[in-house]
Amino acid sequence: MAVDVLVVGSGGREHALAWKLAQSPRLGKLYIAPGNGGTRLVGENVPIGVMEFEKLAQFAVEKNISLTVVGPDDAFVGGVVDVFQARGLRIWGPTRAAAQIEGSKAFSKQLMRESSIPTADFAVFTNHDEAVRYVREHGVPIVVKASGLALGKGVAICRTFEEAEVALKEIMLDRVFKDSGTQVVIEKYLEGQEVSIHALSDGKTYKMFPASQDHKTIGEGDTGKNTGGMGTIAPVPWLHENMLQDIEQRIVQPTLEALRNRGATFSGVLFPGLKMAPEGPMVLEYNARFGDPECQVYMRLLKTDILDVLEACVDGRLSDQPIEWNSGFAVNIVIASGGYPDAYKKGSPIAGIKEAEKIADVVVFHAGTMIENVSQSLVTAGGRVLGVSAVGATLKEALDRAYEAIEKIHFEGMYFRHDIGAKALI
Ligand SMILES: Nc1ncnc2c1ncn2[C@@H]1O[C@H](COP(=O)(O)OP(=O)(O)O)[C@@H](O)[C@H]1O
Ligand SMILES: [Mg+2]
Repeated sequence: MAVDVLVVGSGGREHALAWKLAQSPRLGKLYIAPGNGGTRLVGENVPIGVMEFEKLAQFAVEKNISLTVVGPDDAFVGGVVDVFQARGLRIWGPTRAAAQIEGSKAFSKQLMRESSIPTADFAVFTNHDEAVRYVREHGVPIVVKASGLALGKGVAICRTFEEAEVALKEIMLDRVFKDSGTQVVIEKYLEGQEVSIHALSDGKTYKMFPASQDHKTIGEGDTGKNTGGMGTIAPVPWLHENMLQDIEQRIVQPTLEALRNRGATFSGVLFPGLKMAPEGPMVLEYNARFGDPECQVYMRLLKTDILDVLEACVDGRLSDQPIEWNSGFAVNIVIASGGYPDAYKKGSPIAGIKEAEKIADVVVFHAGTMIENVSQSLVTAGGRVLGVSAVGATLKEALDRAYEAIEKIHFEGMYFRHDIGAKALI
């Protein structure tokens, strides 16, 4: 029987999920709430926001949706899964209790300490003066983090004592992140390359995805402000099977076990962000959902029908469900609006996507795009606008294709990094 699916979210991640779902021979109707200018090409956009849980659940009941798949962190942390489950609706992803692993860095750091999971040495504060004293005692560089969700802006890498003072004042006294700054984590600064790990869990068992690598900062050479992510590659060529097994045993397995022991069994994608430090892999944070843009490269590499995978996960049948990956590499390069991650312009017409997709193995995922009402044309509507993805037998081939495709695309003020994947090629 055909399966009708609702995807919740409006980013490149959700376009990639919808794009992959649309290839399933078992898919019935596909809805995306609220979706973007690209998701409407593979399904029907529904004007309901990601935090409107009651409306989403009502829609799922009305349309007889058999599976809801959620992208964004704030929906999970806010308890979208609990709302759906209370109504007997089938939804993929972690409950509010399990999503705490992402929603509270204080909680996750404490869990890591208790389970001896490798992470930077740290302390948690609610008192501003005590936090300042801790920084003074430990010295710089040091990292100050608002414990709660902060749209990827709650972390300050402090190279001077003054920078740490400013960060602590803004988070704890000025409350720029509101309640997300009630608790502050201060931790040791770590050196090393960052990698993204994704493990799919149905609460009983889990399956590891290939490792991927995002590029967090806006500037080339990993400089400048942090963003939601400017481009991703997968797999990571230097991260060998034995390293991935080590990460699985020392990080993924004990994390899932610790959550289970706390009565917060995790179902969905557990995504630890790691630093490959000289002393070994260290957890920077956990996310309780697919990364964006990591999801885009995973959807390009996944061979198995994603609907089979997600349904097996929701129904607790993951141990019987094979997950196969295509050989070779996938990359996704983000095109952002000029000025992002600070203020940027919206409403610029976008040209050249069709031409870009004529290049072999290129798919363009939409993020901040929409159809303008009057002209019915595609315009920019966000900071990260498009993700140009490509696959290839080698990492270089995939990157060459993606960069060739980017040349066909144009909008006013478009910006992208020219060095995605470059440090992995060496
Ligand atoms: N202990 C650390 N040492 C060095 N860099 C860090 C450390 N913690 C975080 N970072 C940097 O800050 C970024 C954001 O931190 P993270 O904990 O992932 O928070 P969030 O993604 O919620 O903003 C990381 O991707 C990493 O580049
Ligand atoms: Mg992060």
